[in-house]
Amino acid sequence: MARNKIALIGAGNIGGTLAHLAGLKELGDVVLFDIADGIPQGKGLDIAESSPVDCFNASFSGTTDYKDIEGADVVIVTAGVPRKPGMSRDDLIGINASVMKSVGEGIKQYAPNAFVICITNPLDAMVWALREVSGLPHNKVVGMAGVLDSARFRYFLAEEFNVSVEDVTAFVLGGHGDTMVPLERYSAVAGIPVPDLIEMGWTTREKMDEIVQRTRDGGAEIVGLLKTGSAFYAPASSAIQMAEAYLKDQRRLLPCAAWVDGGKYGQDGIYVGVPTIIGANGIEEVVEIKLNDDEQAMFDNSINAVKGLIEATKEQMAKAD
Ligand code: APR
Repeated sequence: MARNKIALIGAGNIGGTLAHLAGLKELGDVVLFDIADGIPQGKGLDIAESSPVDCFNASFSGTTDYKDIEGADVVIVTAGVPRKPGMSRDDLIGINASVMKSVGEGIKQYAPNAFVICITNPLDAMVWALREVSGLPHNKVVGMAGVLDSARFRYFLAEEFNVSVEDVTAFVLGGHGDTMVPLERYSAVAGIPVPDLIEMGWTTREKMDEIVQRTRDGGAEIVGLLKTGSAFYAPASSAIQMAEAYLKDQRRLLPCAAWVDGGKYGQDGIYVGVPTIIGANGIEEVVEIKLNDDEQAMFDNSINAVKGLIEATKEQMAKAD
């Protein structure tokens, strides 16, 4: 049986890390695409040369021609610009909306059957744009944010409770921005929900408020430290988890920026972070969980922010026509 084909659009910090992880996990053969000639070829060759040492079987190639992504099973999009200190993800709309146009057209022409994972920010609006331009079914185009935001929340909780990250589960829903919604009631250590852990004296209300805010600011914290770009290791790991769930039909329950319609969460068509099941059909299901009044208010606020970003993206794309 032929290996799967994984196309990475954007061979920058995240793209290179994605290629390396896809190789280490033997998810398939990797094609790196970028407009900066030499970068995708160089990174591909460098990673290929690590394969005899790490003992993995996969081919790596770099290209500036969309034709080379033909027949890809998975496409992961990081093309565009990352933010710099002081910028919000939303400041990237102008440039990245026009990048999504060319990327969406390339996918439409050469990889219409792929499962497409968008990472480019502002995430919820860019995944919307990519779906519009590519015309792929909504269940095959998804954004990576919830796995990353939840991983940050999980990491901070594990540190606070001094337990293994493996035993901490957490959900962060809503848009991938300042309004994201870390859900304490659905976050737990080996099944013990955070509100119970507060009652048990494992942490305090004040400390939890700090952790929730640190999660919301997780991306900015890294940008502030790096100064020249944004996070790339954890974003790449998160997208690879989603790609693996699709390629291996794992039916993993992961929070992703998915298309929510049909009245779920009171919505009739928006990309926003919700719990999903990822399997061989892409997004197999958007899982609707119960929210209390406070959680619903935070989620509604986040949806409104995403709607504003999608409107701004529409304007940018109309200008680029
Ligand atoms: N088509 C293809 N590649 C492009 C295009 C385009 N139109 N425009 C830019 N690129 C490439 C750049 O040449 C660069 O190699 O996208 C790559 C982006 O890489 P980095 O600048 O290293 O950014 P990275 O950290 O990988 O983040 C990419 O993901 O998390 C988000 O906010 C982040 O939007 C940013 C994206």
